[in-house]
Amino acid sequence: MSTPMDSDTAAALLRGRRTVHDFLPERIADDIVERAIEVARWAPNHHRTEPWRFYVLGALARQQIIARNTELVRAEKGGRAAEIKRQRWLEVPGWLLMTCLRSDDAQREREDYAACACAAQNMMLTLWADGVGCKWTTGAITRDPELFHMLGLHSAREFVVGLFWYGRPATVVEQQRRPLSQVLARIE
Ligand SMILES: Cc1cc2nc3c(=O)[nH]c(=O)nc-3n(C[C@H](O)[C@H](O)[C@H](O)COP(=O)(O)O)c2cc1C
Repeated sequence: MSTPMDSDTAAALLRGRRTVHDFLPERIADDIVERAIEVARWAPNHHRTEPWRFYVLGALARQQIIARNTELVRAEKGGRAAEIKRQRWLEVPGWLLMTCLRSDDAQREREDYAACACAAQNMMLTLWADGVGCKWTTGAITRDPELFHMLGLHSAREFVVGLFWYGRPATVVEQQRRPLSQVLARIE
């Protein structure tokens, strides 16, 4: 078995990754993103279903998503909130949608979603090691049937795991975790 990284280095990468909410405007090169997606695919997946699909979103798709989200926010929270959100979204430098293929078998679909979550973490950690932060989002737009329509996807075939925003972090917010003793038990 080859171990390219010692466990302290691995732990530092795992502990150090943070969700990024504010990005610098710099565009991230396609090869950095593609490599992270390539690495993402090495996640565990039961029955080797490789259920993940990745869509890197270009200018037109982003424009459509932002316009639709502005509509949704306006209907729910009013024009001012919608405009603030629109401006914020316009500033996000990188957009990627990850979906999971549907299955007729509920247990398989559950396992496939778990595999996708592992792939998402692989992707985010690879990007983080390259100095690129992500925000995994599951806001209302990711469940909006219009989203599929706009992007030419079929909801009978796949569902959204997350919309991932990525870019160089402008700020990184510290996080805490509860003590290990609260989440770890030993059963004899
Ligand atoms: C499935 C999933 C969905 C998430 N959706 C959102 C979201 O919609 N908005 C958001 O601000 N953060 C979202 N997050 C990020 C979490 O808020 C974040 O992981 C949590 O605050 C812990 O911070 P950390 O990632 O820096 O450790 C999501 C994370 C996961 C795993």
